[in-house]
Amino acid sequence: MALAGLSLPLSSFGAGILNRGYEEGQPGGDDYWTALRQQYMLRPDFINLENGYYSMMALPVLTAYTEHVRILNSEGSHYMRTKMSTDKQRARQALADFLECPVDEVIITRNTTESTATVINGIDWKKGDEAIMAVQDYGSMLDMFKQLEKRHGIRNVKISIPNNPKTDEEIVALYRNAITPKTKLILVSHMINITGQILPVRKICQAARQKGVKVLVDGAHAVGHFEFRISDLGCDFYAASLHKWLGAPLGCGLLFVKKEHVKSLWPLYADSSYADDDIRKLNHTGTQPMAVELGMMDAIEFHKSIGSKRKEERLRFLQDYWTSKVRNIPGILVNTPEDPARHCAIGNVRIAKMKPADMASTLMDKYHIWTVAIDTSAVQGVRITPHVYTTTEELDQLVNALKEMNG
Ligand SMILES: Cc1ncc(COP(=O)(O)O)c(C=O)c1O
Repeated sequence: MALAGLSLPLSSFGAGILNRGYEEGQPGGDDYWTALRQQYMLRPDFINLENGYYSMMALPVLTAYTEHVRILNSEGSHYMRTKMSTDKQRARQALADFLECPVDEVIITRNTTESTATVINGIDWKKGDEAIMAVQDYGSMLDMFKQLEKRHGIRNVKISIPNNPKTDEEIVALYRNAITPKTKLILVSHMINITGQILPVRKICQAARQKGVKVLVDGAHAVGHFEFRISDLGCDFYAASLHKWLGAPLGCGLLFVKKEHVKSLWPLYADSSYADDDIRKLNHTGTQPMAVELGMMDAIEFHKSIGSKRKEERLRFLQDYWTSKVRNIPGILVNTPEDPARHCAIGNVRIAKMKPADMASTLMDKYHIWTVAIDTSAVQGVRITPHVYTTTEELDQLVNALKEMNG
């Protein structure tokens, strides 16, 4: 069987079934979500509220992905030499269409780490150049900048984002005030991974642009989670993982680079087969697991069958469902903003008298609820991340556990 044209067997979960039981604008209605839950292979022995690490593939995506692996395995190098480049282009086009951005501004990478590294390490840094980032940004990116400090003598300027900002301007001003004539790049998390706070990226990019500074957005948690268009943000670079909220196979991400910036980036792996202003020069990583890219197209189709808006509404509903039940309890502190424009699925909660690690282990050992402890100088608590298959009953169990632990 030829791989080209292989598509997801979505017929088992087609639009008719998908829409049954769903009332527009009613993300709490259960029939639809109960049916969708059947499309995931969930463990019966614990409640998974740690979906921020990566999202498991839905069964139709897993089935299609497994088939891609099987076929690739049987065809060997014949596939690589005769069909891979066509499929690679097809996958890239499908991603560009999904993102609504020009195909010559996007590549498929292995993850956000690779995408951000391609930009951060691809810039021609000079001694004394400055980069702005937040202490709440992801550790790997902060490490990359730390290395540049040692290697090229750049200066890293770190700001700290308040957990409960009152206005967008409060955040934008932090970035704007950190800019100097030496600033070359700002790193901004679209969603802070430890608290789930969504930052006003468009306004931050606008402020940076006014001062001629480029912005790299770490959108690891944004794509497939809530609705937006990269082109509306006005950023220069955008990095994301597709194995998180899109539910693509593990090892799949994207990098968006504004066309005019491609030329000035040095590739991590030299590649003379593309022109300096062709984004594909940044995509050379050696022999690649093509089944992942093919599976990513299936994940896009599955995601579209739910609908970005519907998924976003449900995810926000689930977060609000549990946070609203504990937000005002003395001794319990929710580290995620209440404003719906500043959050979606991810929430962070602390019980004042407990260490984050003890909270996470108690939740797992006593209540069989899987979460992750967050213990940084800026945020302490456990991160709670439901997904489309999470039920309100599961969240009731979380709320009861938190209340009991709080005493
Ligand atoms: C904000 C943020 N950036 C980057 C990453 C790294 O993602 P990946 O491991 O897929 O590269 C993560 C992972 O959780 C993250 O939360």
